[in-house]
Amino acid sequence: MPQRKWWETGVVYQIYPRSFQDSNGSGTGDLAGIITRLDYLADVLGVDALWISPFFPSPMKDFGYDVADYTDVDPLFGDLATFDRLLEEARHRGLRVIVDWVPNHTSDQHPWFLDSRSSPQAVHREWYIWADAKPDGSPPNNWVSMFGGGAWEWDEPTAQYYLHSFLKEQPDLNWRNSETREAMYNTLRFWLDRGVDGFRIDMAHMIMKDPELRDNPMREGYEGPDEYPRFVHRHDQRHLDMHGVFREINTLLASYPDDRVAIGEVATDRWDRFVAYYGTDGDGLHLPFNFDLIFNTPWDADAVRASVDGYQAALPKNVWPNHVLGNHDQPRLATRVGRKQARVGAMLLLTLRGTPTLYYGDELGMVDADIQPDQQQDPVANRQPGQGRDGCRTPMQWNDSRHAGFTAPDTSATWLPLHDDYRTHNVAGELTDPTSMLSLYRQLLALRKMTPALHQGNYKAIEETPDGCFAYLRQEASQRMAVLLNMTPSPLRVNLPGISTGAMAVSTHLDRSGRVSLTDLELRADEGVVIEL
Ligand code: GLC
Repeated sequence: MPQRKWWETGVVYQIYPRSFQDSNGSGTGDLAGIITRLDYLADVLGVDALWISPFFPSPMKDFGYDVADYTDVDPLFGDLATFDRLLEEARHRGLRVIVDWVPNHTSDQHPWFLDSRSSPQAVHREWYIWADAKPDGSPPNNWVSMFGGGAWEWDEPTAQYYLHSFLKEQPDLNWRNSETREAMYNTLRFWLDRGVDGFRIDMAHMIMKDPELRDNPMREGYEGPDEYPRFVHRHDQRHLDMHGVFREINTLLASYPDDRVAIGEVATDRWDRFVAYYGTDGDGLHLPFNFDLIFNTPWDADAVRASVDGYQAALPKNVWPNHVLGNHDQPRLATRVGRKQARVGAMLLLTLRGTPTLYYGDELGMVDADIQPDQQQDPVANRQPGQGRDGCRTPMQWNDSRHAGFTAPDTSATWLPLHDDYRTHNVAGELTDPTSMLSLYRQLLALRKMTPALHQGNYKAIEETPDGCFAYLRQEASQRMAVLLNMTPSPLRVNLPGISTGAMAVSTHLDRSGRVSLTDLELRADEGVVIEL
């Protein structure tokens, strides 16, 4: 067995900084707030790394994913000195820190873009993707923005269109320009030199487009109302040249000590295309985020097994898998599958082979809030009704006091309203309840940490399972763990011939222990168990 790296054996926890902890009564979370919660992450939960969504200076049109300066901190969140303190305090507790890097686009207020649009001859003109109108004045091609509407914005003074794959306030950088590339790599060096442990790379698969800017083909048979799925996104993203960039990033990180990590937000469709993000012999992204269980997989045992098996089988040698069940762009796990199955989801995520990424609040069973139109913040909510992402971004629920401990009780309002179930679902309350979701996460995290079979062992699906049950073995040397997940709301009987008995390590119901028979084991409704064989 090779010596595993920290980002292989560890667990990553995503913090959406606006919503984790406010330290100054602004109603929006900040870096100083995160510092006050590091003990929770290190000691109460026991995760290994935090990934913090963007906290850089930004006009906040897309809540920080529109970066106006890659090498500073927005005053809303603090300053560089506070970030350095966060890093030091995290280090002190054995926590790694991963920052979010947004290479596909900047804010339209970034000095590079302000210069770029100032004149066709501007020094930074080629740093963005400019193109002439068609003879009839229409945009250069049929590409559409992921946030709705066309992807090209006409710039009257310089008489060209610029590309924006998201909002028009988020112009796409031109990664084919070597100066842009070098400048962006310098922003990586800036944070690496400060001591960060790696990056989550936003929309990594989008950075390279078809150099000829060809039209996307229409998707056959699509009849829905949305524009984006109407096209096969063949030319506006995923140009194979992106792998060259990932190789360069990999090399850059490798020039620093201590295994800095590159995690990439990428498209997850076919496994052969997905595993290509790892590069050849692991010279690409270390962990291309695997969203297959969120996007492409119905929540049933056969489909989940097919996803996990398909991924494990497609993985090249010398690379490491990972799994994601929630983030700041998707409805929360407990909203998608319900709170009972969310416990099974927690067990799945924390017992699979591969680095798990947890989304803040999922450990409490937080569900999406219903945000009223007058309280909406996400630009997507206004442009594509029904698709807003505010619901999964509400403030963290720490206790049952006013504002849930997220900010001082006398703060007039929080940037997004809290979910009103914070009185019953919060850290303080769940800590005193031995069967709460938080108690389950703590047990699973502790078990994963102390069990090599779980944090680095191999994986094998178990065949002889009843319908509705997904089961697998994890093994490292002589240590063997069986995970059996009842993904249905009815009890199931499991009979694993050849394995007679084992010791119950944890049940999602948190009420079982001792030796159990595996030739006749009852899994209660929505129950998952981990058994040491
Ligand atoms: C990524 C981010 C999302 C953002 C988008 C544009 O998908 O996760 O929040 O809106 O990129 O930067």
